[in-house]
Amino acid sequence: MTTPETPTPAAAVPTVATGLPAGKMPQLRVMPGPPDANVYGDVFGGWIMAQVDIAGSLPATRRANGRVATIAVNSFQFKQPVFVGDLLSFYADIVKVGTTSITVYVEVYAERNRLQADIVKVTEATLTYVATGADRKPRALPPIESLINSAHS
Ligand SMILES: CC(C)(COP(=O)(O)OP(=O)(O)OC[C@H]1O[C@@H](n2cnc3c(N)ncnc32)[C@H](O)[C@@H]1OP(=O)(O)O)[C@@H](O)C(=O)NCCC(=O)NCCS
Repeated sequence: MTTPETPTPAAAVPTVATGLPAGKMPQLRVMPGPPDANVYGDVFGGWIMAQVDIAGSLPATRRANGRVATIAVNSFQFKQPVFVGDLLSFYADIVKVGTTSITVYVEVYAERNRLQADIVKVTEATLTYVATGADRKPRALPPIESLINSAHS
């Protein structure tokens, strides 16, 4: 039996200076399609809100080391329209932690026409999640040290 060869990547696509946040990884990248658009061809605000909720829940879930529920959308601003075919990047950072709650700031950038040279910030929002147990009641967040230790063990 022959072992398949590791494919050799083709020449890298030249990169240009982008308007995406430097040194940060998006939590989510997704491209809305025709079913996500309203009758005017712009993407539904509700679709964008759902993706923002998912993106924000990812760092919250890691901090909670388990399930979370969204308790509040503290602020939400649609700064620019989103169009079918935009490539969206969702960045999410924890900005506040309480006893059971985690507040996350989410920024969304659109690559218009999938071009890195044409990037606009389309949305920003702040959401609060609560760590919950299997009983769906609030649960105290684990100490941050326990998460670091479990990641190294
Ligand atoms: C999330 C839920 C379990 C919290 O239970 P609760 O008894 O209301 O929670 P509490 O009043 O004890 O508040 C829990 C935390 O949320 C915070 N909180 C409550 N209301 C808030 C608000 N409007 N904005 C920001 N934080 C809020 C509290 O300050 C507390 O934080 P802390 O423990 O860090 O101090 C309950 O509200 C719930 O099930 N809500 C529905 C969740 C849901 O279905 N989300 C949509 C799908 S995921």
